[in-house]
Amino acid sequence: MEITRRSGLTMLAGLAVSACASAGGTTGLALPALPASPASPSMPPSGVAPDSLQAVARSKGLRIGSCVAWGADGADRGSFANPNYAALLKRDCGLLVAENEMKWQALRPTATSFDFTRFDAIMAWAVANDLPMRGHNLLWHQPKWMPRWEENHDFGANPRQAAERLLVDHINTVCRRYGTKIASYDVVNEAVNPTDSTLYQTALSRALGGPEATLDLAFHTARAAAPLAQLVYNDYMSWEPGNAKHRAGVLRLLEGFRARRIPVDALGVQSHIVTQSPDTRGSIAALEGDWRRFLDDVTAMGYDLVITELDVRDNGLPADIAPRDRAVADFTKGYLDLMFAYPSLKDVLLWGMSDRYSWIEGFEPCPDKARRRPCPYDDAFAPKPMRSAIAAALAAAPARR
Ligand code: G3I
Repeated sequence: MEITRRSGLTMLAGLAVSACASAGGTTGLALPALPASPASPSMPPSGVAPDSLQAVARSKGLRIGSCVAWGADGADRGSFANPNYAALLKRDCGLLVAENEMKWQALRPTATSFDFTRFDAIMAWAVANDLPMRGHNLLWHQPKWMPRWEENHDFGANPRQAAERLLVDHINTVCRRYGTKIASYDVVNEAVNPTDSTLYQTALSRALGGPEATLDLAFHTARAAAPLAQLVYNDYMSWEPGNAKHRAGVLRLLEGFRARRIPVDALGVQSHIVTQSPDTRGSIAALEGDWRRFLDDVTAMGYDLVITELDVRDNGLPADIAPRDRAVADFTKGYLDLMFAYPSLKDVLLWGMSDRYSWIEGFEPCPDKARRRPCPYDDAFAPKPMRSAIAAALAAAPARR
């Protein structure tokens, strides 16, 4: 069945209305019609609106998606069980990643047990909606992000062997459970200390013989357990001032992986970018030089790139929503135009579709007490200029082979 633009939007609007109705009309919100955006020249698969972000991305050989949370408990969060949020995911996303439910803190209540309940529910929804999943993450190598029991875990008489067993069992269990349903993993997340470029230590790495040995084992194990998956080192080094040591530490880590022939396919560039001032053009001009040099160094080593967690912390901007949203949109467009110039970048994940559920509000509230506006849709699920900017960047991107 060919989807025309009009019938596609009608169908999507119908989806949203019926979804709200099925939720007892709790919010009564139907997805507002999309602003004009570049239509994608090639028709996407049936069921996808031609001017959805996923259709425009697909027309250039790209994929765009978002993180998603577990739901089913009725809580108001960015979950698949929230009909308003699910409508955004179905409209614009061609792939998903779990925001928290695949992390050690979610999967590992104890050193000898797993709890897959929540991640299985997300995976089931993704499969039911034909949405591929990324895996985030197999090891977040910082003490604060490991399970509480890890830092005091007794690794016994042969700590190296016990630590290796713990890490290998974790990765094997996760990768074998989901098989090819997960085609890309953040094998290691945020292992570099941005303040001094060193690698974080944990009780696991102290027992296993150091952070390098730990990270190397994680990647070797993931390659063996998921031989077809893209293996990614994921971090938040970025282009803003103050990131030079973080970029240097990540480069050194990536060079070491290559020197030790560790199977790492790509750098995950989280892209939690931060506006600097209302002068977007000036900000981008000041930031892009060092950032291009960093990305050139990374890709020269043969690493692919993945944008894994895009959102925009709206700092240094006026309180009024219109100029704030405009600046966020222009900053996003400039960043994505730069990133899409790298042909090995094929996947873009947003860290949330709606301002309503962004982690940033709790992490770093606006100094002027204005609500954060970091996502393509606002807290009433209406599309913002940032969404149009993303669509324009996707449409302008050089086509991937
Ligand atoms: O699920 C529990 C809930 O049962 C409990 O009642 C509640 C109160 O303690 O906590 C809930 O877990 C919280 C979880 O989010 C789910 O909401 C954790 O405390 C909280 O720390 C966790 O925050 C997440 C954070 O990573 C740490 O895991 C954020 O939602 C998530 O957006 C953020 O995402 C990270 C990426 O994974 C890595 N890159 C940076 C990015 C932003 O920090």
